[in-house]
Amino acid sequence: MKKYHLCIMPGDGIGPEIMKEGVKALKVIEDRNDVSFELMEVPFGASAWFEFGTCCPDETWDTCDRADAIVKGTVGLSHEESRKIPIDEQPERSALLPMRRRYDTFANFRPVYLPKAFHHFSPLKPAIIGEGIDIMIIRELVGGIYFGEKEVGTNEQGLRYAREVLEYDEGLIQRTVKIAFETAMKRRKKLHNIHKSNVLKSSILWTDIIMEIAEDYPEVDVQHMLVDAAATALCLNPTQFDVMVMENMFGDILSDQGGGILGSLGLMPSACLGPQKAYYEPSHGSAPDIAGKNIANPYSMIGSIAMMLDMSFGMHEEASNLWNAMSAVFANGYSTGDLSRSTDSVKIVSTSEFGDRVAEELASSFLQNT
Ligand code: IPM
Ligand code: MN
Repeated sequence: MKKYHLCIMPGDGIGPEIMKEGVKALKVIEDRNDVSFELMEVPFGASAWFEFGTCCPDETWDTCDRADAIVKGTVGLSHEESRKIPIDEQPERSALLPMRRRYDTFANFRPVYLPKAFHHFSPLKPAIIGEGIDIMIIRELVGGIYFGEKEVGTNEQGLRYAREVLEYDEGLIQRTVKIAFETAMKRRKKLHNIHKSNVLKSSILWTDIIMEIAEDYPEVDVQHMLVDAAATALCLNPTQFDVMVMENMFGDILSDQGGGILGSLGLMPSACLGPQKAYYEPSHGSAPDIAGKNIANPYSMIGSIAMMLDMSFGMHEEASNLWNAMSAVFANGYSTGDLSRSTDSVKIVSTSEFGDRVAEELASSFLQNT
């Protein structure tokens, strides 16, 4: 039997609730495959800070180091609550970004996916959604302004200032761009380079490198689009996109917009891949306003687990069974409340009921396969 060690980080806010639903799906998969998942749950995030005085205790790092993959919920607090933690010790700065750096998880896959059948979840008109939205945003995750030099102080005029550096070298760009081309080759062979070359030198370097690497992929249609124009195009004509590749901060912003055009950030799973280690997390935050109410959408968490099955463990069929199980729950008219905003045809279910229904559909998908 194949045994995988998973480091499980429920985190803050809605993290623990949606993680539970992801684990339900893993149990179904364990029951019917020659595989076992050993779940090693660890403290991570603001909740860890209040308990241990650090957002990521040493034991958490040790467990991550030993794990075959890391499954992360969400971290962060409301604006008021986070002020209780010193700035440099807040979970984003002291745990999440260090984890990205520690495992060099440079390739962040953020699917923006809505089949035609679920167009009613989206705030966009059906005519704009056409045959459905199916975009893969590839965001560089360990470079750029997030990780550049930072300085705060008071300048000669006595004014407070902050300075942060956006820096990329060609190695960092090349490895991300190659993955984007490889991904495009497996999909519809279209790649959008999202840049800001009219202002940023770093974008000129990105674009040069994309054009160099494009020579190795003559079948891929490469388009260059300014990031501000891309924000508009995502609303007006999202179906033109297949793979979009971009630097860290552009990817942060446009991937949230991706959630917006689908109808909810709750529909945004993600995979963060490094040379040796990968971790999987929803693209969204911890939604402290709805935490503990059993109303959050666990799709992004369950979808992140589907991505793990596919990308870390080669369990392609079970990954697609899991996606199909979630689609089946939607097709039966059920959804969490976040997706009822733009339609009244949704039967609203709780987080745990959504997860139960996914697990049931998943279990029955196996019966159909055999
Ligand atoms: C994301 C999040 C993080 C980011 C935050 C929590 C640091 O918004 O994964 O998109 O900005 O990368
Ligand atoms: Mn973000």
